[in-house]
Amino acid sequence: MAKGNHVLNTSQVVNIEDLRRLAQRRLPRSVFDYLDGGAEAELTLAENCRAFRDVIFRPRGAVAVGDCSLKTCVLGHELSFPAMLAPVGYSRLMHPGGEVAAARAAGLAGTGYILSTISGHKLEDVRAASQGPVWYQLYLLGGREAAEGALDRARRAGFSALVITVDTAVAGMRERDPRNGMKELLGTSLFAKIPYVPNILTHPRWLTSFLLDGGVPKLQNVILPGQGPLELIDVAAALARAAVTWEDLRWIRQQWPGPIVVKGLLRGDDAKRAADEGAAAVVVSNHGGRQLDSVSASLRALPEVVAAVNGQVEILMDGGIRRGSDIVKAICLGARAVLIGRAYAYGLAAAGQAGVDRALEILRCDVERTLRLLGCASVAGLDRSYLETPRASVLD
Ligand SMILES: Cc1cc2nc3c(=O)[nH]c(=O)nc-3n(C[C@H](O)[C@H](O)[C@H](O)COP(=O)(O)O)c2cc1C
Repeated sequence: MAKGNHVLNTSQVVNIEDLRRLAQRRLPRSVFDYLDGGAEAELTLAENCRAFRDVIFRPRGAVAVGDCSLKTCVLGHELSFPAMLAPVGYSRLMHPGGEVAAARAAGLAGTGYILSTISGHKLEDVRAASQGPVWYQLYLLGGREAAEGALDRARRAGFSALVITVDTAVAGMRERDPRNGMKELLGTSLFAKIPYVPNILTHPRWLTSFLLDGGVPKLQNVILPGQGPLELIDVAAALARAAVTWEDLRWIRQQWPGPIVVKGLLRGDDAKRAADEGAAAVVVSNHGGRQLDSVSASLRALPEVVAAVNGQVEILMDGGIRRGSDIVKAICLGARAVLIGRAYAYGLAAAGQAGVDRALEILRCDVERTLRLLGCASVAGLDRSYLETPRASVLD
C-alpha cells in the first residue's frame, strides 16, 4: 500500500463495499454512476451479486490446512491467486493513474491485467508498468484499419493475449448517464455543461487531479487513420458501428498470432462455437450488467458453458464478484479463474494504485481464509463437493 495513504487504513477499509463508499465520496456523481451503474432497470446488475448468495458452502471439518496454495495457471501464466483485472473503460477519468496504476497493482499482486480499448493511457506505458501478464481487449472502434494498428502495437509491446468482447453490438442503455449529463460533460460545449457543473465543484479533490491530468483524455490506442486518437465523446457512436461477428473473429485470428479470449458469452452453444473457431479461453460474462438487461447472472450461466465446452478451452467468468468467497464459489462451479471489474475500479477511484492494491489484498486474504475454513489446501482442489447440492434456482 502506498505510504501515508490515510484513507486506506485497514480498520476503515475492510471490504470492497468500503472502497465503493470512498469512491462515491471522491468522484462526481456522473463518474461514480458511470462506474457503479448498469443497464436499464439494473436487474442483471443486482442479480449478478445476488446469485452468489444462493450458493452454499459444504466445508470439510477437522482439517488443518498447512501451506495453502492459491496459485492458478491461466493461458500458461501462473497467477498468485485466481482473479485477474477485467477491462474497465474510462479508468483515467476515475483517477489520473488509470490503467497504468491498475496494471502496476495487478503485477505487484502477481496477477494479470486486461487493458480496455477505451483507455486514456498508451498501451505501451500500461505494458511497461506491470511485471505480470497484460492482455489487450479489442473493440473494433474505428474499423479494421484502426484495429490493425492497435494489434500491431500490442504485439510489439508484449501483450500476451487478445480479448474480444462480443456483447457490445451497441452500448447498453445506462440510464444514470443521461440523467447525470455524461455526454454533455465529455463534450466541448461549455453552455451544455452548466447544469451539471455544481456537482463537479463539490468534488474538488477529483476536479483538481482531473484538470492537472489535462482534462478529458483521448483514446490513445484507437488511432483513426489520418485523424489521430478517437475522442471519448465519439465512443458510443463508434461502438454502434463496431459489432464483432464470427467472421471478424476469423479475420482477427489472422492478425493476432497469440491466444484469443472471447468475452461476453452466456450460452453453451456460443462457447462451444468460440472454442471451435480457435479461441483459447472464454469469459462467461454479461458485461457486469451494463449491456442487455434481464439476462441471467453470469454465475448462473457458468455450469451450462462448463458442460458445453467439456474442457476444450479455459473458462473464466466475471460479474458480481465483491468477496473472495464469490471467487471460490465460481471456481467450485468450474471457472479456472475470475475477472473482477468494479471491485478493483472502486479502489482505483478511491485512491489510485493504493486503492487497487487494497482491493486485491482484501480479495486474496478472503480466498485464503475461505479455503482454510472449507478444509481445502489449494485452489486446484476446489470442486462441487464443497457446495451444497445446488438449489434449482441457481444452477439448473
Ligand atoms: C466502468 C466499467 C467499464 C467497463 N468497460 C469495459 C470495456 O471497455 N470493455 C469490456 O470488455 N468490458 C468492460 N466492462 C465490463 C468488465 O470488463 C466486466 O465484464 C464487469 O465489470 C464484471 O462485472 P463486475 O463489475 O461486477 O465485476 C466495464 C465495466 C465497468 C464497470
